[in-house]
Formats: sequence, C-alpha cells, structure tokens
Amino acid sequence: MPLAVLDAFIAGDLPRARGLTDYSVPDEFPGQVLKVLELRRMQLAADPALAPWSARAMVRREDRVMVGYVNFHGPPGVNDIEAPGAAELGWSVFAAERRRGYATEAARRLMDWARDEHGVRRFISSTTPNNAPSLRVHDKLGFRRTGQVVDGEIIFELHS
Ligand SMILES: CC(C)(COP(=O)(O)OP(=O)(O)OC[C@H]1O[C@@H](n2cnc3c(N)ncnc32)[C@H](O)[C@@H]1OP(=O)(O)O)[C@@H](O)C(=O)NCCC(=O)NCCS
Repeated sequence: MPLAVLDAFIAGDLPRARGLTDYSVPDEFPGQVLKVLELRRMQLAADPALAPWSARAMVRREDRVMVGYVNFHGPPGVNDIEAPGAAELGWSVFAAERRRGYATEAARRLMDWARDEHGVRRFISSTTPNNAPSLRVHDKLGFRRTGQVVDGEIIFELHS
C-alpha cells in the first residue's frame, strides 16, 4: 500500500482510499489495525524504499476484493528478537473471509518473495497463546516456537 493509500485510510477517508486502489475495500478496514497502519506509514515516510517491506492488501484474485492484509515489520533485521537478517511478518483476515486458507497462502507467498528476491532465509512471527487460528497458521507454514515470549506473544521462527 503506497503512502497516499495509507494516508487516506489513516484519515478515515475511505472514498479517497478507494479511488486510489484497484480493489474493493470493506467498510471495516482499517478498524482495529489503524495503529499498525500508522506505524507502517511512519516507516514509509522516513524511507519510501521500504514499501515492499510494509503493509500489503490481501486481494482475492477472482473478484479483486480486499480480504485482509499482510505485512513485514520492516526490512530484514527488523524483528521482535533483533535477529540479524530475519524478516518478521504478520497477517490479518477480515472476519467474513476467514478459514479459507487466505492467511496461509498470503504469508507463504510473501516469504517466497523475500527468499527469491532478497535471499531472506529466516522468518520470525509471533502470536498470543490463545489465538488458536493464528497458532494453526504458524503450524501449517512450518514455523517452530523459539521458546521466547515478547510482550506476551510466543515467538516463532522458520528457516526456509
Ligand atoms: C489468524 C487469521 C489471520 C487466520 O486467517 P485465515 O485466513 O482464516 O487462516 P487460514 O484459513 O489460512 O487458516 C486458519 C486455520 O485455523 C483453523 N482455525 C480457525 N479457527 C480455529 C479455532 N478457533 N481453533 C482451532 N483452529 C482454528 C482453521 O480451521 C485453519 O486450519 P485448517 O486449514 O487446518 O482447517 C484470522 O483468524 C484473523 O485475522 N484473526 C484476527 C487477527 C489476528 O489474530 N491476526 C494474527 C495476529 S498474530
């Protein structure tokens, strides 16, 4: 999502955001993820070259509907455990679109991109112990627990 799109979402100006995108956006976005978008916007404003490592809309191919978003926390090296060269990612799917494999597919493709285009082989992710759907996504992707907990979140790692 380019800076202009993030700005429109953060301003709560959905019509402007919709005018800047070629996919449809449900009314519920950004909702609870506003703070994440604000953080990504700050990073992007400081260094526009970080765009590919920032927030991405998860868009369904068949009807160009946004079903969620996926993002890295920044370029490789920016992660909760400060692991050099490791990229941390996160995912969210709108409530009506869950349990269709979207988070798993999007996360897998995002990691494929980072590995193939940028040689990243180490990935970090985290979730709370009670987030059963996200724990399952970690499992399906092949993430393993590192044993670390940061801010109440279990840290996972994947070597690809
Ligand atoms: C976590 C989240 C992104 C998963 O998105 P999704 O597109 O539904 O994920 P997928 O369909 O790829 O996989 C979900 C898996 O969890 C399983 N699952 C869903 N709800 C579950 C539950 N309550 N208990 C156990 N497993 C559950 C699904 O059956 C599926 O596993 P399966 O393929 O073996 O059947 C989505 O639930 C979400 O956005 N939650 C709110 C935001 C959030 O928690 N983000 C992650 C922060 S770390």
